[in-house]
Amino acid sequence: MSLIHWIDFPKIGDDRGNLVALEGNKNIPFSIKRVYYLFDLQSDIPRGFHAHKELVQVAVCVKGRCDILMDDGKSKEIVTLDSPDKGLLIDVMQWHEMHNFSDDCVLLVLASDVYDEADYIRSYEQFQNEVKK
Ligand code: TYD
Repeated sequence: MSLIHWIDFPKIGDDRGNLVALEGNKNIPFSIKRVYYLFDLQSDIPRGFHAHKELVQVAVCVKGRCDILMDDGKSKEIVTLDSPDKGLLIDVMQWHEMHNFSDDCVLLVLASDVYDEADYIRSYEQFQNEVKK
């Protein structure tokens, strides 16, 4: 499994503007059970800092931009999300941190399951121990 997995969404555009459709088990590689979005963010207050045991997600910056640090316990990479026609897959056991939000950033996230705090690993030490197993 590669650390960075982008999904390009086909853009349906005409002289009225653009449209992107996200469909579970089609261009999103799971059945979508939850959608949430982050907005009114502050550039100097990062978020995330966790991994999931079973949840798979796709993050799309539908407005503005932000950086995401992805870490699978072996390597780390920082990528920029700045396009509404590109999604970043956040797979199981990928520690992620969102940084440097633009003032207008709206980060949409599609998730494979409903919210469950028990699925979160919020301690980086615990994450490293789980990855080594
Ligand atoms: P948190 O995981 O801290 O957000 P981030 O990963 O962006 O830093 O979530 C903030 C709060 O929102 C926390 O109390 C859990 C709650 N929450 C829900 O109730 N439902 C959800 O779908 C999500 C993602 C979070």
